[in-house]
Amino acid sequence: MKEGGLTGGRASASAKRVFIKTYGCQMNVYDSARMFEVLAPLGFLPVEKPDKADLDIFNTCHIREKADEKLFSELGTIRQSKMMNARRGGKMIIAVGGCMAQAEGAEILRRAPFVDLVFGPQNYHLLPELVAQVLRSRGDRVVATDFPAEPKFDHLPETSASQGVTAFLTVQEGCDKFCSFCVVPYTRGAEYSRPVAQVLAEAARAVCSGVREITLLGQNVNAYHGEGPDGRDWGLGDLVRRLAELRGLDRIRYTTSHPHDMDDGLITAHRDVPQLMPFVHLPVQSGATRILSAMNRPYTADAYRRIVDRLRSARSDLALSSDFIVGFPGESDEDFEATIDLVEEIGFAQAFSFKYSPRPGTPAASLCKQIPEYVKSDRLTVLQALLERQQRNFNNGCIGRTLPVLLEKPGRHDGQLVGRSPYLQSVHLVAAERRIGEVIPVQILAASANSLTGSLEESMAG
Ligand code: 5AD
Ligand code: SF4
Repeated sequence: MKEGGLTGGRASASAKRVFIKTYGCQMNVYDSARMFEVLAPLGFLPVEKPDKADLDIFNTCHIREKADEKLFSELGTIRQSKMMNARRGGKMIIAVGGCMAQAEGAEILRRAPFVDLVFGPQNYHLLPELVAQVLRSRGDRVVATDFPAEPKFDHLPETSASQGVTAFLTVQEGCDKFCSFCVVPYTRGAEYSRPVAQVLAEAARAVCSGVREITLLGQNVNAYHGEGPDGRDWGLGDLVRRLAELRGLDRIRYTTSHPHDMDDGLITAHRDVPQLMPFVHLPVQSGATRILSAMNRPYTADAYRRIVDRLRSARSDLALSSDFIVGFPGESDEDFEATIDLVEEIGFAQAFSFKYSPRPGTPAASLCKQIPEYVKSDRLTVLQALLERQQRNFNNGCIGRTLPVLLEKPGRHDGQLVGRSPYLQSVHLVAAERRIGEVIPVQILAASANSLTGSLEESMAG
């Protein structure tokens, strides 16, 4: 056996090392964790540095153009390590997975011919076989970007024990909405909801291993309609109510939701289920109905306002987050002003905002009236200044309040812990490490743009 781990045809008896770099959204974070689990039975141990690995996986994002460029620059670096490794007689496998691999597999192989394997987000359960194929091949690249007939979830191993007190759990994948700017329906495929029993089993395992907060994930998570134990389809509200019965699960969140699917079942769950956190990420994208319609978003700006009203009536302390795109083709100054008006009216605790990025193959990319880059930049600056002001106001409004905080991990300074408020803010405080995993009342003393500082209520100290 030569230095470098894997050799032709047969996996090494010694430990093999895998490095995974994750780009993009929380679903990719979840997928990367599952990839480690799929590879563990083959003897792959995680490593932190790509040049120390026998198998390097880049789990990519394709949502905006910037993500693509990041990948190619990273691949350029790893190519050097692969060449050095080859000189020592080793074989380093370079694999590109995720949404960019799905959409641009051929382009990746053209621009980076040293990549051995390209696989899409619905194929990573096949990694053992795909890696074996690479090892058997004499330089041929392996591509797995078909959408399989059976969902990968039916073939993944059980999740292993969680390392922390919070966990992601994908309950829904793919999207049938086809917003005109978005690649997701093409990269993740059609909408699919995991059966309730499968979700409950995974959640129960997570809670057993110490998880106190689960974030349910889906590209369109509130379109969830998984088969329930009673044979009928359960909505996300039903699922949340059932999960709340799990003893030890203190907090439930979900992301990302779509205004069109914000139904009564979910809204009343916010009223009735205390474990469901009062923080909703509900992307509006634009405050102009004309632009929403061009985006193929099936709601008006006023309908969005009404949904927010209903959510706030169900739970008065509910805080909102959103996504915005500025400079969508045809967006006029008035349209942009309508977005600013909506933001001012609603008030967001936090938000993400982006310049429109034309994505190959999406309908909006070929619309005329593309907006010049400098206009997009100007609009983004104005919107972000407003959103940052709102976030700071929201954080400042927490000063003097006592918030329940889930203690998550040690902080940067000795004796300090970091936790999360119900509104997803990071909270720094002094507390003993053994208290990680507890939800405790914390008095908020100070706020910054991105986090809070607090102290344990007297009675809870120690
Ligand atoms: N350009 C800019 N932003 C986009 N998003 C999705 N596609 C694009 C695009 N082509 C944003 C949307 C979405 C978030 C995940 O990314 O706001 O909600
Ligand atoms: Fe993309 Fe979300 Fe629209 Fe689906 S609903 S197409 S994931 S932006």
